[in-house]
Amino acid sequence: MLQPIQETAAWIKQHTNVHPTTAIVLGTGLGRLAAEIEVIDSFPYADIPHFPVSTVEGHSGRLIFGRLGGKEVMALEGRFHFYEGYNMKEVTFPVRVMHELGIQTLFVSNAAGGMNPDFEIGDLMLITDHINFMPEHPLHGPNFPTGPRFPDMSEAYDRKLLAQAREIAKEKGIKVVEGVYVGTQGPTYETPAEYKMYRILGGDAVGMSTVPEVIVARHCGMRVFGVSIITDLGVEGKIVEVSHEEVQRAANAVQPLMAEIFREMIRRG
Ligand code: HPA
Repeated sequence: MLQPIQETAAWIKQHTNVHPTTAIVLGTGLGRLAAEIEVIDSFPYADIPHFPVSTVEGHSGRLIFGRLGGKEVMALEGRFHFYEGYNMKEVTFPVRVMHELGIQTLFVSNAAGGMNPDFEIGDLMLITDHINFMPEHPLHGPNFPTGPRFPDMSEAYDRKLLAQAREIAKEKGIKVVEGVYVGTQGPTYETPAEYKMYRILGGDAVGMSTVPEVIVARHCGMRVFGVSIITDLGVEGKIVEVSHEEVQRAANAVQPLMAEIFREMIRRG
């Protein structure tokens, strides 16, 4: 596994002169943040050696190198989900490559169902912590030399970055909420009973991504900041039928605000 990671990183280094220390993973319906990036180089996943190819609707599948907030960044436009059939090593492969390329800070975004009764559709939730409900662990198997065998997870989401995000949101008058993200395997959305269970267990929002990438990023020593866009509600009495199209539409509507927070955080460094 180490060899493909290094080969992919070497290929990327040969093909771009952008050397970012910040990376962004764009979730469902959030690809338009890519439009805010001053793109210098972009590579369809299919052109990158060893890279999995994204299959889900709403993800165009490009690796972008460019500038955002005056800083060099790389962005994954379209991530790899467990439900697509990838194993966790494949899901987290891009994060391993990012580490090899010198990434120190990872910004992640996703669409999620809100279970906190105070949440509304279209809320931006700063992720304060997560619960790993995925069926396979991304660090299962021989330990990678990037981190310890038993990694600490007491601060998966960087407190300083969270404080900075709160400050920026306040300054710009952007409403944000905060909470715990539950990562499940999907591809089904939750039954009302499942939403209730995840709520009882301590979750504020639930989605099908992010947790594996964050675990690997932490194992690589990266600082992590994450945002969920609340695209539907798993709150008793407010549960209605959910479709991928609606999730994308709700995410689309809020992405300029998320982009503003990301851009300003990156600008301030
Ligand atoms: N559940 C799981 N994943 C999701 C949801 C949800 O309600 N909304 C968007 N992604």
